[in-house]
Amino acid sequence: DGLQDLHGLHVVVSAGPTREYLDPVRFISNPSSGKMGFAVAARARARGARVTLVSGPVNLEVPPGVQFVPVESALEMRDAMLAASESADMVVMTAAVADYRAARPAGEKQAKGSEALTVELTPNPDILAELGSNKGERVLVGFAMETHAGVERAAHKARRKNADFILLNYPTREGTGFGGDDNEVTLVRASGESEVWPRLRKTEVAERLLSEALTLHKYTRSV
Ligand code: C5P
Repeated sequence: DGLQDLHGLHVVVSAGPTREYLDPVRFISNPSSGKMGFAVAARARARGARVTLVSGPVNLEVPPGVQFVPVESALEMRDAMLAASESADMVVMTAAVADYRAARPAGEKQAKGSEALTVELTPNPDILAELGSNKGERVLVGFAMETHAGVERAAHKARRKNADFILLNYPTREGTGFGGDDNEVTLVRASGESEVWPRLRKTEVAERLLSEALTLHKYTRSV
């Protein structure tokens, strides 16, 4: 349909939550629906890009024409994202990657006891930061959810992870963020410049995100 302005580009998108198993039947996760990432993948494909979508477990249909790579854990997502990103022109990390995983996941289902249970967690790798440390000419986009000092924290995050911009949202606004069909975001550049977008359908947020990434892509390619 319509404008094929992303033709010839490879867009890699991560979506959904990750699952960090404590034993074969229990895991730590979060309520990410995957809708934002699936919207980015669908719109990028519609605008002519080759699209790879790496996603944790979600209940969504894969958009037609999109190469789908299902994963569960952050470590699996990391491997898939690093592999797919080698040939990418744009990478969009919408996934809600779990910050920690079990240090020693049990091989068998753990039985219930009456004592308190302590589980040691170890930090997961930061996939966006890793992609940023080997950025090349790729445009790199992240998302961030903050409850306070959002713009400042997002700008700091963009700089630290070497992302071109971060779309900031707040978990507290009704109907936006996790699960909903709408999103209300602020675009935050590493420079600290920010731009408040109105409440939009996630599909429309995806369109604007891709247009912004394309502007940056043309700029890097022309200097
Ligand atoms: O640090 P924080 O989780 O707030 O940063 C959010 C951004 O970083 C998102 O784009 C998310 O996909 C990415 N991220 C990541 N790997 C992690 C944690 C977050 O790529 N382990």
